Amino acid sequence: MKNAGLEAAFVTETDLPFPVAGALRVEDQIQFHPRRYLVGLAEAIVANGGRVHENTRVTDLKEGEPCLLRTEHGAVVRAREVVVATLAPVFEQLRLSTRLSAIRELVVAGPIPADRDPGGMYITRELSTRSVRTAPLPDGRRLLLITGEGFAPGAGHVAERYERLIDWARKHFGATDITHRWSAQDTQTTDTLPWIGRAPGTEHVFVATGYARSGMSHGVMTGRLIADLLTDRTPPWADLYDPSRVHPAHEATATAEDVAAIAGHYVGDRISAWSGSVEDVPKGSGRVVTVDGRPCAVHRDEHGNLTAVSATCPHRGCVVAFNDTESTWECPCHGSRFAADGTLLNGPANRPLEPITDLPG
Ligand code: FES
Repeated sequence: MKNAGLEAAFVTETDLPFPVAGALRVEDQIQFHPRRYLVGLAEAIVANGGRVHENTRVTDLKEGEPCLLRTEHGAVVRAREVVVATLAPVFEQLRLSTRLSAIRELVVAGPIPADRDPGGMYITRELSTRSVRTAPLPDGRRLLLITGEGFAPGAGHVAERYERLIDWARKHFGATDITHRWSAQDTQTTDTLPWIGRAPGTEHVFVATGYARSGMSHGVMTGRLIADLLTDRTPPWADLYDPSRVHPAHEATATAEDVAAIAGHYVGDRISAWSGSVEDVPKGSGRVVTVDGRPCAVHRDEHGNLTAVSATCPHRGCVVAFNDTESTWECPCHGSRFAADGTLLNGPANRPLEPITDLPG
């Protein structure tokens, strides 16, 4: 870290309410309000003559001069250069989405007295990561935010994961009143550094992905790096993030593991699909039920109404799993997510789950 110009020191004392064997302390970090920051960025784009279009999904990209982007509503946008800065690159011709792994993470938050504020921001290095910070509340207390319990989409047991995080917040910080909880998803490359730069095999398409849960800082760096690349001022460190890089050792091992895991989701999930029938799907939940040999994702709402969609992910055909806590279908292979009725929430899939209208019963 010192070689990178950061003021860092090894310490054994912190302001955390429990002892630590050791910690790496980095001075002069900044914590800021993410929404205000994003709103400020959007306003800066508009103030500089740009336009921001929300809720406009791009479903197709053809690279050329110009590049052509088709939206789900049929409009065609022409662009000299395209930056694909989505969670996972949603265009299959970029051949990146299957080399990324997806991870979900949970956050719980609640007020604590100001004198229990540990100050600063903390992150553990243990396997079961905990990240700790606080934010000011109008009444003088602090809002404690604990992040952790990362898991692969579709892995389930989300309620238990939240409970573990809440128990930890209570035990260490006395946060008895958990007022907020939410989850987020990110992607990670095989060597853990993001891919930021020109997409492999393209001239006019750039990508930014694989932030590995450090999106605020990587996002800032992406803006600078891609602006430099677009104006032919390639910085000497650009290769570090080049999406065309392949780390043979990392990539070979990770790919072999991923292929084995994904093969399990193509085949194993079908075999181990829930043994119950459509009638047995509990209220407020969803199950993958095999009907006439097809894996069907069946959801029953709190009133007993059923919705059935194909359980086959339109990205590469893995079988989705239901997340009871968020009422979503999640694909264990590359992290696509869908609402209970099959509506696409996030890629790499760029289509919803197919509706099933001929479910028996
Ligand atoms: S996200 Fe790739 S198969 Fe579902």
